[in-house]
Order: sequence, then C-alpha cells, then structure tokens
Amino acid sequence: MPTAATTSTPEISVLKQFIGGKWIEGSSAKEIVSTNPADSRQVLAKLKGCDKNDAVKAIDAAEKAFPAWKATPPPVRGRILAKAAAIARARKEELAKLMTREQGKILPEALGEMEKGINLMEWFAGEGVRLGGVSMPSELPQNLLYTLRQPLGVVSIITPWNFPWAIPVWKISPALVAGNCVIFKPASLVPAMAVEIVKIFEEAGLPPGVLNLVLGSGSAMGDVLVEEPRIKAVSFTGSNEIGRRVSSIGGARGIKVTCEMGGKNPAVVWGDADLKLALAGVMKGAFGSTGQRCTATSRLILDERVADEFLKLLLAEVKKIKVGDGLDAAVGMGPAVDEAQLLTDLEYIEIGKVEGAKLLCGGKRLTDGDHKHGWFVEPTVFDGVGPRSRLWQEEVFGPVLAVARAKTFDEALALANDSAFGLTCALYTQDLTLAMRFCENVEAGMVHVNSPTIGGEAQVPFGGVKGSGVGEREMSKEGLHFFTELKTVFLDYTGASRSSNIY
Ligand code: UN1
Repeated sequence: MPTAATTSTPEISVLKQFIGGKWIEGSSAKEIVSTNPADSRQVLAKLKGCDKNDAVKAIDAAEKAFPAWKATPPPVRGRILAKAAAIARARKEELAKLMTREQGKILPEALGEMEKGINLMEWFAGEGVRLGGVSMPSELPQNLLYTLRQPLGVVSIITPWNFPWAIPVWKISPALVAGNCVIFKPASLVPAMAVEIVKIFEEAGLPPGVLNLVLGSGSAMGDVLVEEPRIKAVSFTGSNEIGRRVSSIGGARGIKVTCEMGGKNPAVVWGDADLKLALAGVMKGAFGSTGQRCTATSRLILDERVADEFLKLLLAEVKKIKVGDGLDAAVGMGPAVDEAQLLTDLEYIEIGKVEGAKLLCGGKRLTDGDHKHGWFVEPTVFDGVGPRSRLWQEEVFGPVLAVARAKTFDEALALANDSAFGLTCALYTQDLTLAMRFCENVEAGMVHVNSPTIGGEAQVPFGGVKGSGVGEREMSKEGLHFFTELKTVFLDYTGASRSSNIY
C-alpha cells in the first residue's frame, strides 16, 4: 500500500464512521483506502470499515432517534435541509475538487453534480411545508375522508461511486424530510465525499442518530441493512446483481424497496435531425463522466442515410478529447474509477473485436506520460455492432459506444427496445410525428427528444423500466412518497350510527 511519502498529496485524512451522532472507528479489520484514480499513488483518505455489529449499532441509534424526529414538524425538518443546502453551496468548489480527486470525473462535471445535489436539497427542503395528504368527499354527509403521509421508520440508503454527492443527496433528503431515520451505506471507493455529506447534515443541526454512516464492504456487513427486522425500506442504486438481491430479500420481507440499476441507453439519430445538435448530445451522453453513469448513451442507432456522415463528424470530435486528470482544465474525460472498472472496459473492447464489430477509434489503455499511474482508457467507438452481441446487450459502464444502423424508423425503434434494460433514451429528429411515436412506444422510464440521454431535475421522476429499475421512481413527489406510509382516515362527525348503500 502506498504511504504518504510516495504520494504528492502530503495529507491523508483519517476518516471515521458516524453512528448515533458520534464519529467512531469501525470494527472491521478491513481498512478502506481512498485513492485518486488519475494517480493511484495518491492516497486521499483511509478508515476502518464497519462490520455487522456496527450496522446493528447504527440501527439501534436510528431506532432511538426516530420518535422525536417523527414528532418534529415537517417544516422544521425541511429547514434543516435548507441549511444543509446553504452550507453545501458555500463549499461547492472545494467539494467539487475533492470529488474530482476521489472519483475522477472532470471538474466541470463535478461542479454540475454539486449544483444538482444542492438543487435537490433545496427542492426537498420546500417539500417540508407541502408534505400532506389530501381530503376527499365522502358518499355520506358529515364524514371527512383524508390521507396522511407518515414516515416509515429506519431506512437503508445504499449508494454507488459514480455520483458520490448527488445520488446520496437525492435519497437522504426525501427520507429525512419525510421523518425517517437513515442508515447510509455509500460505496467504499468514495468515503471522503460520503463523510463530507454527513458533516454537512451534522452542521445543519440534524439530531444525533437521525443520519448514520456505515462505510464498509458488503461482505463485512452482510445483508444486515436489508434483512434486519427494524429496516422498513431500502433505497438502492448500483449493479443489477446486487439490486436483484436487495429486491428479493426486501420483497420476501414485505418492505418497500426501490432499486435503480443498469442501463444500455440508445440514442437514435434520424435522417432529418440537426446533426450538430445530435453530435453534441451523443458526445456528452457517451463520454461524459467517462461513460460511468447508468444514463450514459451506450448504443447509437443511426439512420442509414446519414450514418457515414454522422460517424465522420463523431470520430473527429472523439479524437479531440484529451484524457487525463480531471483537475486539468484542458482535459475532457477523466479516468475509470479504479483498476477493476478499467479492466471491465478493456474486456468489453476485446469482446467487441472478437464479436466482429468494427473498431472505429480508441480501444486502448493509456499509460504514457501523465497517464502512467492512473486508470485511463481511450474513448472508444465500434460500428456494425450486431443486436445479439454482448457489446449491444450488456452494460459496460465505460466510454465505449456501440453503433448500429437502421433502414426504417420502425427498425430503429425495434433496435432501441431490444434490450433487457429500459432506463433512458434519446431521439434526434425535427419530425414531430416521429418524436411522438418514439415517446409513446419506446420502452424506457425517461425519454429525451433532441437532448442527451443523461441527467434529471429535482422535480421530475427519475427511474427506469425492465432490468433498469424496481419500485418507486426517485426524486420528485414520487421519490418523497416512497419514504412515506399513506394512511386513510374516515372521520365521521355525526355522532350517530347510520348506514348507506355501500357501508
Ligand atoms: C445523471 O445522468 O445525471 O447512477 C444521473 C447513475 C444514475 C444517475 C445519473 N443513477 O448513473
């Protein structure tokens, strides 16, 4: 393991876990080490991981904190979120730089992610004054029917490494404003960002035990965060393999589960499209965040009439991308997050070649000069990718774009839908009829017309169909409602017994 002496960053932060309002050491023998993917010699932080007992202690603390938090009026809970948002806004640049160093994405992307997370905090803070049910007329006079939204109790939030700020924030914020107590388990690759998130909520005045941080490996903590009887809901974002496991355990227990999993998102560029607009969108969708987002554009479906012309424009742009350390302003694409992800990217590039797809550009690991100590791969494009091939069907989670061509719009739509996933998609066209047909018939949770497959906004639902998602959408009212139990009240104020033709 590298020591401080071998790194160019002098300081290694020694991090702690946060349980019951106290910063404590985890009990696992396994140490978590955070390194810079652009230069893996740089150790940013380390800490002792949590084990099963720590996870149970966190649940104990959350259970203890729950009654008082539940009794705290939602507008007061919302005000704590608003304060957290203000603290985060004041620290935006500093945290974005930390994100770039820990996760690898280029600084403008990290700043964008910070802003998005802050918007989400602000939006959910406002939901504190709107967290209500509805009243409805009854079949009977003097009978008030209304609904209440109440918190679930202790909930688990399990998050990935690719959006180390925005994803935790878009789950933790609605959970808290709805009155739940949270066990937060982020990915072990991004502990420094996770600790900063928790510190922000602590500084904003969140009572002890309401938010608990348990960083550690799945093997050390086991399934406690899904299986423990006091866990009332799980919100998960990550791989399909783990998501399926979470939803089957949660389903068997009869608790609420929302899992946001993989994607193999298509962008269709139709013959009449504004090709410049499509080019910008495909570039951003496919190579932004080094392709490490479940909303990445990983399949490109081209109208045969413009395919050659579009690919020529695309290759010229891809070749301009400078790959390197995301803190360098000239760099357009950062590294893979770690060696394992880099090897996955390279493995899929080999699979593409073996399957007979035509490598148009990229395809190699970069090891020269400043790339020597990082996990860098070239942005890669394959043409002629067969619809039954693994490169067309499986999620890579890297900067590898698979291209196929279609003769008719129906063929393009069928290609788009020929996937086990259904998170997001994009269509580039000026033809309203085609756009409407696509929006109606494409199998995806989110559809973009003339904009990239990526992104989302606080107030709109986020999530997918088929293998991309299970359970309630995230963000928006739906994301808030996931963290509530809906209670229906029948309030009869006649003071007398009576009957109707339905009661
Ligand atoms: C985005 O496209 O900006 O893990 C957000 C992911 C998604 C988030 C994507 N849950 O990539």
